[in-house]
Amino acid sequence: MENNKISIETDVIGIVFPTYYETLGGLPLIVRRFVKKLENIESKYIFAICTYGGASVTAIKCLEKLINSQGGKIRAGFTVNMPSNMAGPNLNNTKKQEKMFDVWNKNLDYISEFVKNRKEGIFDTDNVLFGRAYLLLKLIYSPLMFIFKPSTLKQLKKYSSASLPYEQQLPLMDRSFSTNKKCNGCGTCSKICPVNNIKIIKDSPSWQHHSSLRILLSMLSLVS
Ligand SMILES: Cc1cc2nc3c(=O)[nH]c(=O)nc-3n(C[C@H](O)[C@H](O)[C@H](O)COP(=O)(O)O)c2cc1C
Ligand code: SF4
Repeated sequence: MENNKISIETDVIGIVFPTYYETLGGLPLIVRRFVKKLENIESKYIFAICTYGGASVTAIKCLEKLINSQGGKIRAGFTVNMPSNMAGPNLNNTKKQEKMFDVWNKNLDYISEFVKNRKEGIFDTDNVLFGRAYLLLKLIYSPLMFIFKPSTLKQLKKYSSASLPYEQQLPLMDRSFSTNKKCNGCGTCSKICPVNNIKIIKDSPSWQHHSSLRILLSMLSLVS
């Protein structure tokens, strides 16, 4: 991610990512940034596996659009339900989780064979019906979004003063993050953060809104 361009030598590229904010497209910002750096992908066999906690209908489509704009094509796409690291009904339900992992093991065999044989097709491996219903609902729901904005958009507005597109506003959401006295300042969050966004200051995490600052600076051509 430090490089401006990413060139992949192998013929096959697999992009495995979680759904983040389905209401805003579902593709995590870091995945968007990664794909925008890819070059010479025209002839590659690109497949995507998108995990989700509740529903993922648009994330692979978003990725597909982005990859097309880079000159490539997703040959195979799959969605896979996971327990979800957000609060949800499956988070502490071990039985439900085990069932999900069983389904995943079966999906994995199927996906491996599919990719090994370079087959093509975009699949909702386990939420076809829900996906269609969701798209239909979204059609009806979209005009209402102007009146009843989703909570994510409201949060963005609350914590960001700039009227930037959401891609650039999203990192500003860390303004709403905080810890409580259960935090022991161990620094794990800082070590594992993939965008280097957490500094431990006085034994407590401090969120840096790095990514958005970098974007603003790059818009002003101060950094590449
Ligand atoms: C910030 C954030 C936003 C998320 N948004 C969605 C969402 O809109 N829809 C959804 O199905 N899952 C959502 N998830 C859940 C992740 O997709 C899920 O945690 C991920 O696929 C990995 O599964 P796991 O946590 O069980 O490993 C979100 C998770 C986070 C952290
Ligand atoms: S420093 Fe980070 S990982 Fe460690 S306890 Fe506090 S919030 Fe959790």
